Amino acid sequence: MKKTVTDFLLVENKQLNKDNFQLLLQSPQPFSDIYPGQFINVEIKEATEIFLRRPFSVLDVDYNQQTITLLVKILGRGSKKLTEAIAGQTINAIFPLGKSFTLPDKSDRILLIGGGSGVAPILFLAKICGLNPSNVNVLIGARSASDHIDVSSYLNFGQFFFTTEDGSLGEKGYVTNHPVFCEQLNKFNKIYTCGPDLMMKAIGRTAIKKNIFCEVSLENMMACGFGVCLCCVEDTKTGHKCVCTDGPVFNVNDLKW
Ligand SMILES: Cc1cc2nc3c(=O)[nH]c(=O)nc-3n(C[C@H](O)[C@H](O)[C@H](O)COP(=O)(O)OP(=O)(O)OC[C@H]3O[C@@H](n4cnc5c(N)ncnc54)[C@H](O)[C@@H]3O)c2cc1C
Ligand code: FES
Repeated sequence: MKKTVTDFLLVENKQLNKDNFQLLLQSPQPFSDIYPGQFINVEIKEATEIFLRRPFSVLDVDYNQQTITLLVKILGRGSKKLTEAIAGQTINAIFPLGKSFTLPDKSDRILLIGGGSGVAPILFLAKICGLNPSNVNVLIGARSASDHIDVSSYLNFGQFFFTTEDGSLGEKGYVTNHPVFCEQLNKFNKIYTCGPDLMMKAIGRTAIKKNIFCEVSLENMMACGFGVCLCCVEDTKTGHKCVCTDGPVFNVNDLKW
């Protein structure tokens, strides 16, 4: 798939809650299809002290409007700087990068699990997978109710469940404590997840034990984003793999989990 370096126009930067922002970027030209799990590597232009681009999953795409939506959670200096960008500013990015989730078949019953900023590719997959919503369960975990983003525009695409560590929204605990995961997992023949490493490992190990197809989107630290610097390498059963080009999506059976 052809990658391009593009000067996007930042159309809107909307704060969703304390740490999460939604950025709407418009490309000056049409672009090829982008699939859930693929990411774009963004230059933090206004910050000369930040040399490396920062990778962000695509949350949504509108090919008619030539826009890409990102969900940016403040973690360090780069993401903070990006959330301070204002409408009208130019944002340079290389895209589309990486391999996407394997799109489900029509007959699949899928469980999508997102945590933290990992909800971005999960919501995108829920939206475009084209399954009957009754066959799509989406489980989203966060520390507290105030850390969850509003998913009301996605509710038509599946059945949604929430967890919080403090019990302020949905089931108290981690996503792996939710009954959909710990009691009803056999209902599903495919699991897709993105989020904190520990969350994905817990989900992936259970999927391996129960022999359920499971893909995870890894968020290893990256620099170039296209297989040159080797800073994103993951040790897999078939050797070292670049998460930026061989992933970020991997089948759990290929990982040393
Ligand atoms: C494929 C991919 C997709 C991603 N998608 C999204 C997304 O949709 N939304 C979003 O908000 N974030 C996403 N991220 C994470 C995002 O790239 C990082 O939050 C960002 O690069 C951090 O940059 P920073 O300058 O803010 O932090 P830095 O100042 O570089 O780092 C701050 C702290 O965070 C740690 N850190 C930095 N990057 C990561 C990382 N990738 N994983 C764990 N710890 C890290 C550093 O070690 C340091 O302790 C994604 C990452 C990858 C690899
Ligand atoms: S980020 Fe450079 S090789 Fe993956």
